[in-house]
Amino acid sequence: MADGPVAQLLLQRLEGGDGGLDSLELASALGLDHQVVVGAVKSLQALGEVIEAELRSTQRWELTPEGQETAQDGSHEARVFHSLPPEGLVQSELMKLPSGKVGFSKAMSNKWIRVEKNAPGGPRVFRAVDSVQDLVQAKLRLVQEGEAEHLSEKERNELKKRKLLSEMTLKTYWVSKGSAFSTSISKQEAELSPEMISSGSWRDVKFKAYNFSSKGILPEGGHLHPLMKVRTQFRQIFLEMGFTEMPTDNFIESSFWNFDALFQPQQHPARDQHDTFFLKDPAEALDFPMDYVERVKRIHSQGGYGSQGYKYDWKMEEAQKNLLRTHTTAASARALYRLAQKKPFSPAKYFSIDRVFRNETLDATHLAEFHQIEGVVADYGLTLGHLMGILKEFFTKLGITNLRFKPAYNPYTEPSMEVFNYHQGLKKWVEVGNSGVFRPEMLLPMGLPEGISVIAWGLSLERPTMIKYGINNIRELVGHKVNLQMVYDNPLCRLDT
Ligand code: PHE
Repeated sequence: MADGPVAQLLLQRLEGGDGGLDSLELASALGLDHQVVVGAVKSLQALGEVIEAELRSTQRWELTPEGQETAQDGSHEARVFHSLPPEGLVQSELMKLPSGKVGFSKAMSNKWIRVEKNAPGGPRVFRAVDSVQDLVQAKLRLVQEGEAEHLSEKERNELKKRKLLSEMTLKTYWVSKGSAFSTSISKQEAELSPEMISSGSWRDVKFKAYNFSSKGILPEGGHLHPLMKVRTQFRQIFLEMGFTEMPTDNFIESSFWNFDALFQPQQHPARDQHDTFFLKDPAEALDFPMDYVERVKRIHSQGGYGSQGYKYDWKMEEAQKNLLRTHTTAASARALYRLAQKKPFSPAKYFSIDRVFRNETLDATHLAEFHQIEGVVADYGLTLGHLMGILKEFFTKLGITNLRFKPAYNPYTEPSMEVFNYHQGLKKWVEVGNSGVFRPEMLLPMGLPEGISVIAWGLSLERPTMIKYGINNIRELVGHKVNLQMVYDNPLCRLDT
């Protein structure tokens, strides 16, 4: 058996014929799509010398959709001619007909019609001859019947210019018998099977030759989302700078660690339903280091360590409310509290990169969940100068130089600075981070010794990722509208280039 029924038919035709055959003619004789015949030719070619196939290109003329319409209904000029009644038609009315404009000018130059300029009611068009012969339609019908060669080149080009005809190049094969021609060729095996080996049949079967130029199938693997690729780079930078990763494996946090431990008063607007997602079930957290909670309560309500506090009635119920953490600084607070419990104190450098949640109005650059990157350094005598220095080093490793600092406010840092970078592409200063020195009202209740300062900064993971990958709308990066192909195709991330 040959490779397929079409290949078999092709071989039979070659056997009976004298010389060779054309793939396009065979396709029309068999009523098949030309590509099917081409496929059969290729599979026979792969067998070696069974057939010879010579690639030829043929020019072919085809009617355009407008050409087909003209072949059926006549040319525009003929349609204009036939639509004119004996008493003529006002020119402006004629122009409104579907064939009006083109038909009018062609019919005029054919001298089929004439215009009477001074007719009452405006210029009027009349037939100028009794009958016309629609040669354009006749020529197109010839092409339709496969007799384009009966037209002169000039005639064909005219129709082409009118966009009624188009010229196609077709690749066809001229097929003839090869030196090993046979109509009964056996199907070649593509694979050696265990059965062939045990039965010994491999000795008699024909194997397909290796095709060393065929392209392999692309292996399907997992794909990293751009955010994860950029996260890897940030993690690498922190590790190079000697930072240790903090545990951030809890999206759910108590108000206590998210706000109270950070000396953020319980009336602060960020603690409102409109800014924060609170949990219904379980609505409250139960497990707290109570002696520390007492110290936090005191600093809020009465002050201490030289601070006046906020002087309000601090409530445990408010601190117990569970929420989706609004910043990774909650994880930093937990890490610093743990650090404070280790005596004697030893300096620490921590970082985290994880997801946070805010009850935001969604737009092109804001989602209700995003990722924060945070760095924290605790040591004796750290100053604002150290913070600026470490920010400069950190951002330089990202390829971001040219920083400016702007005074800002956070409830838990004093002083606080927003970090800006001059963006060459956008030609303006863009905010790249927020930072500050944690307040003593946050650190001392934790049990950290006096004289320790903690400098810290935070930024989003989404913004540098969008800049890096040229994404303008955050919904193209995260959520149900993400084009997975974008994820598959995105290159590796190198931040310093
Ligand atoms: N938590 C701040 C924010 O969510 C970022 C920050 C981290 C600011 C550390 C200062 C110090 O924007």
